[in-house]
Amino acid sequence: MTVHANIPPLFRNASFENFNTRPDNPVANRALSHAVTVANSFAREYGYGAKSQGLLFIGDPGTGKTHLAVAVIKRLIQRGFQAVFFDYQNLLERIRSSYDPASGTGDRGAYRTALDCEVLLLDDLGAHRVTDWVEDTVTSLITHRYNNNKAIITTTNLRDPEGGDAPIPGGLQSDVSGRYYLTERIGLRARSRLFEMCRTISTRGVEDYRIRKGREAAQR
Ligand SMILES: Nc1ncnc2c1ncn2[C@@H]1O[C@H](COP(=O)(O)OP(=O)(O)OP(=O)(O)O)[C@@H](O)[C@H]1O
Ligand SMILES: [Mg+2]
Repeated sequence: MTVHANIPPLFRNASFENFNTRPDNPVANRALSHAVTVANSFAREYGYGAKSQGLLFIGDPGTGKTHLAVAVIKRLIQRGFQAVFFDYQNLLERIRSSYDPASGTGDRGAYRTALDCEVLLLDDLGAHRVTDWVEDTVTSLITHRYNNNKAIITTTNLRDPEGGDAPIPGGLQSDVSGRYYLTERIGLRARSRLFEMCRTISTRGVEDYRIRKGREAAQR
């Protein structure tokens, strides 16, 4: 079976080389340089020993999480490993439709690939309203990969104290401004496995690159 990397067109050119670590901004530079160092060493060392079975990128929108995650899988593919990109929402929709006999567009292949491919990039984890089905599905996916020692690279906007986000008194529940915590969207069991498998890379506090580009374009 040929497995395609599935990288969306917008990210086909994303690489370490064209990632800007914002030397003009000390706060962003510190976070982004650290992100590049950790991501780069994962891409270089993956396959030698099993120190870390993945990466968890955590941070606000537009801070380069998907860009760096794609840069990592492109390197791994160059090194001969099989890596596949899945958008979390899209994957869940494809799995759901595969269980719906009426839809006729069953797509079990996507789920099997996500379960068994060598390296899975799961983009925008938790970007879906929670139902028991969603929580069960993501838990089985992550548990399967965990039990089989298969790497996962994932990105999320959701907050988590383990990712350096401020803990909130009273437990892991969304704060008054409605920002969700990872555990609320994927459940405690999936979260627990993810933190054991992955090194965490936080881009929290970095300025949104899309908004910055838009502003610069408007000034020209
Ligand atoms: N530091 C950077 N250098 C170069 N390009 C960047 C950088 N940060 C982001 N970009 C570009 O900006 C766009 C948004 O970045 P990206 O999609 O990686 O953000 P994200 O953190 O995944 O956001 P979201 O949480 O909304 O998915 C992409 O086109 C990406 O290539
Ligand atoms: Mg993204």
